[in-house]
Amino acid sequence: MSLPTSTLTVNDRAIEMPTKTGTIGPSVIDISKLYAQTGQFTYDPGFTSTASCESKITYIDGDEGVLLYRGYPIEQLAEHGDFLETCYLLLYGELPTAAQKADFDYRVTRHTMVHDQMNRFFQGFRRDAHPMAVMVASVGALSAFYHDSTDITDEKQRMVASMRMIAKMPTLAAMAYKYTIGQPFVYPKNDLDYTSNFLRMCFAVPCEEYQPNPVLSRALDRIFILHADHEQNASTSTVRLAGSSGANPFACIAAGIACLWGPAHGGANEAALKMLAEIGTPERVGEYVAKAKDKNDPFRLMGFGHRVYKNYDPRARIMQKTTHEVLSELGIKDDPLLDVAMELEQIALKDEYFIEKKLYPNIDFYSGITLKAMGFPTSMFTVLFALARTVGWISQWAEMIEDPSQKIGRPRQLYTGAPKRDYVTVAQRG
Ligand code: CMC
Repeated sequence: MSLPTSTLTVNDRAIEMPTKTGTIGPSVIDISKLYAQTGQFTYDPGFTSTASCESKITYIDGDEGVLLYRGYPIEQLAEHGDFLETCYLLLYGELPTAAQKADFDYRVTRHTMVHDQMNRFFQGFRRDAHPMAVMVASVGALSAFYHDSTDITDEKQRMVASMRMIAKMPTLAAMAYKYTIGQPFVYPKNDLDYTSNFLRMCFAVPCEEYQPNPVLSRALDRIFILHADHEQNASTSTVRLAGSSGANPFACIAAGIACLWGPAHGGANEAALKMLAEIGTPERVGEYVAKAKDKNDPFRLMGFGHRVYKNYDPRARIMQKTTHEVLSELGIKDDPLLDVAMELEQIALKDEYFIEKKLYPNIDFYSGITLKAMGFPTSMFTVLFALARTVGWISQWAEMIEDPSQKIGRPRQLYTGAPKRDYVTVAQRG
């Protein structure tokens, strides 16, 4: 059922604008003709009220704490599904049949190796390079290696590029890690599942046998599911914007990785762990909560708050359970960081400031502790996020390319700089 149009009065003139409805969630007022009708733009820095596209992939109800991939609640996918099944769902729109799943898993597995020349590309980096810097560069460089999947007008090439990125991201991420610690690269092993293979590429060494721990593999697989997509967040919007110009998919995903790196986005789990370490003991939590509330102090509690979730992030609940499973499997009973995290969560959830502003722990609050316990250094946390989010980015990119109404993304601005003025030569400048 379509809603009535909305009327906006601009300079005493009533402008009728169509209202569009989705399947669930708020409807939108279509302002695309507003400039032509009024000569005025809308102003919404940070896109707090602006939908930039139509999408069928992911739905979030931030007030209710709901996250759906293609209609399926994240809790059900995380409990019953696996990451590659989630990838299939995000890419194709439906859960696979058993045969489709076997075929998809096989195809991803057969794409896990990277061109051997990539090894030489890696040698150019300093050993102390941040692995996210290496990821931005190496994923962008894939377009220099796989010319046969950069024609975005060819549906088959688009799918090959998607499979390649889902398959090669763990290999590149593990290489980025191995390179920084000075260990040899470990090639993928195709009889392992996606996540066990990744753990092996990160933690195996040529001189010892490596047995993936199924509890850790399952926990990491679940972390990947939780991070697979999150509708039009900053990095996904970056991928769409880059893709809207016709850039190749490898370049677009590299742009997404660059955006994800920031501490307000994917870098928050690294920042959250650093903050927990800085707080150090549960007794000091109150002091840091006070700092976060102080208007004159720029400090924020990392891992708290979300642009969209104004309720408990559903991913954080699952992540909290996963954290406990991993710590128990590894026999970590008294983790000081976890003690600080628990105290912080309890205090913040009861504090008027956080209640009033609807600031709840987000997924990054727990993921850092879990990944650290698994043996990943903090600099790898955002890399793991990028690995998991690649499928979301590529699904959103493909959806955009396949949308016949797609055009290059080109925001407008409110200009507040100097008005037109004449050039003055250096000699005449006072
Ligand atoms: N600690 C203390 N105060 C906070 C925090 C926080 N973590 N987050 C927001 N606030 C306050 C903020 O000071 C502001 O107060 P006031 O209205 O008095 O000025 C109010 O809450 C609203 O904040 P905002 O910055 O306008 O909200 P936003 O929607 O623009 O920001 C956010 C969302 C995630 C950037 C922010 O909450 C934040 O910086 N959190 C810490 C970083 C973090 O954990 N980021 C991970 C996000 S989840 C992962 C992902 O999806 O990438």
